[in-house]
Amino acid sequence: MSMPQNRVFSGVQPSGSLHLGNYLGAIKRFVELQNSHECIYCVVDLHAITVWQDPQELAESTRHVAAAYIACGIDPDKHVVFNQSRVGEHAELAWIFNCVARMGWLNRMTQFKDKAGKNRENASVGLFAYPTLMAADILLYRATHVPVGDDQKQHLELCRDIAQKFNTDFAEPIAAAGHGDGFFPLTEPLIAGPATRVMSLRDGARKMSKSEPSEMSRIDLTDDAETIAKKIRKAKTDPDALPSETAGLEGRPEADNLVGIFAALADSTADAVLATYGGGTFQAFKQDLAELAVEKVGPIGAEMSRLNADPAEMDAVLRKGAERARVIAAPIYDEVRKIVGFV
Ligand code: TRP
Repeated sequence: MSMPQNRVFSGVQPSGSLHLGNYLGAIKRFVELQNSHECIYCVVDLHAITVWQDPQELAESTRHVAAAYIACGIDPDKHVVFNQSRVGEHAELAWIFNCVARMGWLNRMTQFKDKAGKNRENASVGLFAYPTLMAADILLYRATHVPVGDDQKQHLELCRDIAQKFNTDFAEPIAAAGHGDGFFPLTEPLIAGPATRVMSLRDGARKMSKSEPSEMSRIDLTDDAETIAKKIRKAKTDPDALPSETAGLEGRPEADNLVGIFAALADSTADAVLATYGGGTFQAFKQDLAELAVEKVGPIGAEMSRLNADPAEMDAVLRKGAERARVIAAPIYDEVRKIVGFV
């Protein structure tokens, strides 16, 4: 079994609606990578239950994320689209990694601290072990590249630490099995740039998020044209005109965010956007941004609604995807079993 050279793995949690931040920050990149890489895109339902989920809503959200992948342009016939819980080896490998990773490593994870908040004693054990499961997701396929937002950088570093420790802890059986230079790859993150970090439309200092109470703070991928236009029209700005250069966006988070969204949707740059709109009012800019957003997001939402209307079809896609995922994962996990000494 040779080491893959260009295999991409990434995952999105099924919890609540998908918004423009998910699209520009992650899924758009997933779509592009299909041309250059073998891609495996997962709906991480095991990760979702690290905080309590209503079972019916979990099932629905799982199908919705799969629908979003496909509506955004991921081809489930050419690449692999599936949900994590259908491939049991994710949880099995995560257990082995729980025994490789150190408490001290996990204690440093900032996402756990953020999510657990003040009430750490009451957080689930799964929430603490979240990053070892994420490492298992990636390494179960010996993925070489993982596109993620910059908030996941620390988890990717942990994934490399786990791969490295596994490779040294089991160096002898790994060499004996003919994997001279280590069994697991040191996976590279493909971190989305700052232009793809989409902030709330109500507060440029906070990330666009499904947990924000105000719906006006985000554009959901299933919003209709009128709603998209209204949310952009009402987006928070400041009283000044748009600057002509990106340096002028400093200290103006709302302006920065809207220009970034425009650039990402137009496959352009903030510089190019400001070359056109610098010196002008937000009103004129927002008018064009609303049109652009409706043009780009509208068709995705329409396709998502079509797919969401047929849950059985989505289940069939996920089932088939899981079968293909298992074809890749099973032989790798078999090797792991031998390396670790499971008979
Ligand atoms: N933790 C990721 C997030 O919240 C989701 C995720 C789970 C993931 N497993 C993964 C991302 C594996 C990339 C690779 O965004």
